[in-house]
Amino acid sequence: MSDTTPDVAVIGLGRIGLPLALSFADRGLSVIGVDNDTARLGAIAEGRMPFMETGADELIARVHASGRLTTTSSVADAAAADAIVLTLGTPSLSHIEIDMSDIRSVLDDLLPLLREGQTIVLRSTIAPGTTEFVAGYLERKRGLRSGVDVFVAHAPERIAAGKFLEEIDTLPCIIGGVGEEAGARTARLFGVFDAEIVQTTPVQAELAKIWANIMRYTTFALPNLLMMDCEQYGANVFDVIDLVNKDYPRGGLAQPGFTAGTCLRKDFAFSEERSNAPGMLLAVSRVNESVPNFLVTGLKRRIAGGSLRDRKVAVLGLAFKKDTDDERDSLAHKLVRLLERELADVAVHDPHVASPTQPLEEALRDADVVIVAANHSEFSSSQTTQAIAALATDGALVVDPWNCLGSGQVFAFADELAALAGTEPTRS
Ligand SMILES: NC(=O)c1ccc[n+]([C@@H]2O[C@H](COP(=O)([O-])OP(=O)(O)OC[C@H]3O[C@@H](n4cnc5c(N)ncnc54)[C@H](O)[C@@H]3O)[C@@H](O)[C@H]2O)c1
Repeated sequence: MSDTTPDVAVIGLGRIGLPLALSFADRGLSVIGVDNDTARLGAIAEGRMPFMETGADELIARVHASGRLTTTSSVADAAAADAIVLTLGTPSLSHIEIDMSDIRSVLDDLLPLLREGQTIVLRSTIAPGTTEFVAGYLERKRGLRSGVDVFVAHAPERIAAGKFLEEIDTLPCIIGGVGEEAGARTARLFGVFDAEIVQTTPVQAELAKIWANIMRYTTFALPNLLMMDCEQYGANVFDVIDLVNKDYPRGGLAQPGFTAGTCLRKDFAFSEERSNAPGMLLAVSRVNESVPNFLVTGLKRRIAGGSLRDRKVAVLGLAFKKDTDDERDSLAHKLVRLLERELADVAVHDPHVASPTQPLEEALRDADVVIVAANHSEFSSSQTTQAIAALATDGALVVDPWNCLGSGQVFAFADELAALAGTEPTRS
């Protein structure tokens, strides 16, 4: 650590915190980054990104050379900074309740060290009421009144992974300060970016963030439910979606696919935990979560013998969404687990993730079933279609809820693929 007082501390150098810390440093702030993952700190110290983020390799090299970002594993070191931004994970407990344990633990570490005049910004996604809780916690435990002694605000991170460096300057930055001064100080901090600042109350900032994700989670549950309806009625989901949307001014039904990941899969719980209509969003979650099982059931219905035991299944894609290496809370993992419970011989290929997977050709060779589990760009290339046609067994079943391969069918047979045109997937 350097001797000078850092402008800002960022606690939690994950998918959100690290690009944010780098971006602050790139705009000229002196930044202290805190994480308790030593492997992650090691990569950063070498000027190397520990995960994929578009444009971040060049950014980290630039910041590394500038010396404006120092890192530490000690939360206490963060207390030296004028502003402290928390970018910690906020999972949901299986009780359908926000898991605030990382935030609580860091606050407890900071408590004895906080000093008057500091700004504390919650950047993590949090349940309504959490910002006011944090302000109240600091007052109750240390007598630090928010808006007078310290300044607490919520400035939710709304970027999509992979678009951080673009969206930090373009997405309106919502700020909900506990009191006007907290909002103003947080606005000055985030004013180093080009995005418009929108001031509101803490609870409105919290609601705006989680409801953006609830909207997406629900938007994608609808075509997934339709896909299951179509199976029941012997209809083609892609045809029905085209019929809904074609020249219809109130259309806009999305495409089916695996919908999960570390944000969408849990953020709904932050509404559901105190919902006035308990169950509605749980049902949305159940629809999205049941897609892997729907596919396994559907393919068993179609393959000869109706059993996957000792059959080779190639799963293409482990990441939770297109063109990312992030596999946290991916439904592809759930699919693999379900297939293994059928005693299938599962082979996985993903060109991006850190988990070891097989090369495409090896995964596809002699496969009885091929399942496109992530809509990576590579999978909608004609090479992938040709590789499946060439390497999978004759009559292999190809399961593609994304329509990456362009067959226009969720369940198709490999020999049909030869006749396919390469249709681009419509969802990212
Ligand atoms: N990933 C996204 O695309 C995204 C987008 C918008 C909002 N968010 C929200 O941002 C928050 C962070 O998400 P993320 O994906 O960056 O999480 P993450 O798990 O990648 O990062 C959290 C980091 O905090 C570190 N950490 C945990 N406890 C710590 C402690 N006590 N001291 C120091 N470091 C500690 C972890 O090692 C990890 O590196 C979450 O609330 C999430 O919902 C994420």
